[in-house]
Amino acid sequence: MNLRIGKVRNSLILVVVLVVNVLCLLSITIQSYSAWRPGRAAGTTTPAGGGDLYSSEHQHKNHGVDVQSASASFLPPSPTAYLNLSMNPAVLKKVDSMHHVLNLSRFDDDTVYPAKRVGRYLIVYPGLCADVDRVHLIMIVHTAPKNLHRRQRIRETFGNRALFYPFNVRVAFLLGKTLNSTLERVLWMEHARYNDTVMGDFVDDYHNLTLKGVMGYRWVNQHCQNSELVLKIDDDVFINTYKLLYSFINHMRGKPKSIFCNMWHKGTMPILREGKWKVDTRMFSKMSTFPYDYCSGFVVLLSSDLMGPMHQAATTTPFFWIDDVYLFGMLPSVVGGVTFYNYALDKNVSLNDKKTINCTMEQGARCPIFGSIIADHNYWRYWQMVSSLYVSGDWKVENKLIE
Ligand SMILES: *[C@@H]1O[C@H](CO)[C@@H](O)[C@H](O)[C@H]1NC(C)=O
Ligand SMILES: *[C@@H]1O[C@H](CO)[C@@H](O)[C@H](O)[C@H]1NC(C)=O
Ligand SMILES: *[C@@H]1O[C@H](CO)[C@@H](O)[C@H](O)[C@H]1NC(C)=O
Ligand SMILES: *[C@@H]1O[C@H](CO)[C@@H](O)[C@H](O)[C@H]1NC(C)=O
Ligand SMILES: *[C@@H]1O[C@H](CO)[C@@H](O)[C@H](O)[C@H]1NC(C)=O
Ligand SMILES: *[C@@H]1O[C@H](CO)[C@@H](O)[C@H](O)[C@H]1NC(C)=O
Ligand SMILES: *[C@@H]1O[C@H](CO)[C@@H](O)[C@H](O)[C@H]1NC(C)=O
Repeated sequence: MNLRIGKVRNSLILVVVLVVNVLCLLSITIQSYSAWRPGRAAGTTTPAGGGDLYSSEHQHKNHGVDVQSASASFLPPSPTAYLNLSMNPAVLKKVDSMHHVLNLSRFDDDTVYPAKRVGRYLIVYPGLCADVDRVHLIMIVHTAPKNLHRRQRIRETFGNRALFYPFNVRVAFLLGKTLNSTLERVLWMEHARYNDTVMGDFVDDYHNLTLKGVMGYRWVNQHCQNSELVLKIDDDVFINTYKLLYSFINHMRGKPKSIFCNMWHKGTMPILREGKWKVDTRMFSKMSTFPYDYCSGFVVLLSSDLMGPMHQAATTTPFFWIDDVYLFGMLPSVVGGVTFYNYALDKNVSLNDKKTINCTMEQGARCPIFGSIIADHNYWRYWQMVSSLYVSGDWKVENKLIE
């Protein structure tokens, strides 16, 4: 009798354990599903908070084109996920000196930290990198809302993933918001069509480019963690993706905490006091040159392990509006242990499209320039030139000579 009761009890316990297990599994699955599609989770579980003001504004504004408004809001990952940068005394000292040269009080409110100003994504598609295990190269393109034609030509040319298989290349376009409601509607349609734009909750203005860049670091860290290299470019840049993937990537791979760019050494780049890039005399007041190594930001490659630390650093590094200085100078300086690899201007990257076109005409696939500003009126001609070089097989042999 006792034995039978014991048996029954045992099997009862077994059943209960089984049921609990199944429930746990289910909840884990649901959780990871909502982590994978956080937008949906946010849409269903957080109806309250200042956050939703914009969504409803959007639904209102979009006249039914509210395709992604459900996935439009989610939070950045918890800052505790990374190193607590502010605990390191050397880091504290650097950040203090930045507060000092920017003439900010150390106790200025949180909005001096870009990571806290970026806000939610207004437009985002979490699945851009999720269809493959590994992304070799994620291009993040800083683009202005009105530059649709530039985004479109990038999709059709050097950002067209179909051309570079077996390399997995992905492109994300980073935008701020626009006050032009016609344009805004167009952007939502563009998003519905291509799923490759990321819009932050800040006005798209050149004084806000730093915010765009910090949003880029955050986005890659959240939604493209399986990428090996991150390429930040502006929307007027042309990338010879063939050259980059088949030649340069071998130099870049496997180097942790690295930045590859045309670098300006500290104490060499003048701080301008007038014109478009005029810096208020209140800032860097006793200096005539920037006191950080940094990159010219039109073409910058970064190892993807930097994305988390860079975003984390932007929670403690005070805002400075010149994005190249902030994103590729101040942040790496706070992160620490970052190695710069310098690509000389007109050797591997160029701001001068005449030189780039000439180089390709003269040297074909051996031309070592992989990234260049190209004027709009030269774009398609140059793309023809580059792509025709690479459709034949000869270039592979020639490219080897450059290693
Ligand atoms: C990091 O460390 C500082 C100083 O000890 C502390 O005030 C802060 O709360 C910490 N931040 C996190 C996210 O743990
Ligand atoms: C708003 O955007 C549309 C579409 O790009 C454009 O045609 C129009 O000129 C813009 N309006 C203003 C005031 O900039
Ligand atoms: C964009 O993403 C949504 C899901 O968020 C999907 O339903 C839609 O088909 C995608 N569109 C394209 C063109 O991939
Ligand atoms: C962005 O730029 C605009 C115009 O320069 C400015 O008014 C605004 O405060 C900036 N910041 C944000 C977060 O939008
Ligand atoms: C710092 O800013 C304050 C006003 O905010 C100003 O009075 C002071 O002169 C500035 N310091 C320098 C060195 O420019
Ligand atoms: C950069 O260009 C130079 C030629 O100007 C070339 O010798 C060098 O190998 C290139 N750098 C890399 C990493 O390929
Ligand atoms: C093109 O490059 C060659 C050397 O490769 C140079 O001799 C020539 O002057 C260049 N032409 C222009 C227009 O830059």
